[in-house]
Amino acid sequence: MKIAILPGDGIGPEIVGEAVKVLASLRRAGLPIETETAPIGGAGYDAAKHPLPDATLELAQAADAVVLGAVGGPKYDTLPRALRPEQGILRIRKALGLFANLRPALLYPELAASSALKPELVAGLDLMIIRELTGDIYFGEPRGRRRNAAGEDEGYDTMRYAVSEIRRIARVGFETAKKRGRKLTSVDKANVLDTSILWREVVSAMAQDYPEVALSHMYVDNAAMQLVRNPKQFDVIVTGNLFGDILSDEASMLAGSIGMLPSASLDANQKGLYEPIHGSAPDIAGQDKANPLATILSLAMMFRYTFARADVAGRIEAAVRAVLAQGLRTADIALPGERAVGTRAMGDAVVAALG
Ligand code: IPM
Ligand code: MG
Repeated sequence: MKIAILPGDGIGPEIVGEAVKVLASLRRAGLPIETETAPIGGAGYDAAKHPLPDATLELAQAADAVVLGAVGGPKYDTLPRALRPEQGILRIRKALGLFANLRPALLYPELAASSALKPELVAGLDLMIIRELTGDIYFGEPRGRRRNAAGEDEGYDTMRYAVSEIRRIARVGFETAKKRGRKLTSVDKANVLDTSILWREVVSAMAQDYPEVALSHMYVDNAAMQLVRNPKQFDVIVTGNLFGDILSDEASMLAGSIGMLPSASLDANQKGLYEPIHGSAPDIAGQDKANPLATILSLAMMFRYTFARADVAGRIEAAVRAVLAQGLRTADIALPGERAVGTRAMGDAVVAALG
């Protein structure tokens, strides 16, 4: 199990540090885990003047799986777009062909009161957002800046999806729904965008291969509203890169905190990059305040998807449940008046609970 560790910036090194403790404990328990660390994002820029240094990409390519923290920080905000930390993430997703981004929003019962919604709306919430990750307006060309006919500067981007790209992500959506609650909601903006009209046509045509899955379509504005009105109506959501970016941040608040949500980004062969869905939180970096659970839960996804070790995934998830049940809370999930523990204490508690 060769795992590339890319801590990144801000709270990235701290939360990944706790995930590495979990890996070390699993190695001591006999799993053949090998890790190697490399810089990405702002750290990549500092080390090699590029957000995705060649050596980092090579390490990631040679590994079976990649664990990433987060990238970005105020120090890098003035760099040209091509050198900004976010480009490190976008490039590694593209270079590794990680087109399928799985973002589960699962509410742990202990955190019901931390949800932004009333407990009865979110009790038992378990939804999976499947976000296409290597296409759409994120990567579409042409893009850039130009002087328009009126002599004014304008910026422009291109939203585009080819049929094959829609098909392969829709397939992940149908297959995932088949193994879960058999409900798939495809989210688009087909009342306005040509890209979405094609998306809807392609997804609809595939439904006949999956008679056991109930497919429905929803416009993204309505989906954003339904997620806070009645989130439990959803089982699996499949959507494009931009809409998925936005909806998955929204969904994280249902689960109590963005600090709880892991993600998997998979290629066609289950090789994956695993990262929390939150960002680098520069405002709390280096203060032992960040919640490491999203990163630790990302490891569980890694064992489940890349290494086909659902048993190990289950042990990690059970350890996270156990520390929540013990009452441990980092600041983001602590209720007013509850004592918060630090990043390291939370990581140590998970390692202890792993046994
Ligand atoms: C995410 C992030 C990234 C994205 C940024 C950091 C480029 O918001 O993983 O959701 O937009 O995909
Ligand atoms: Mg995002």
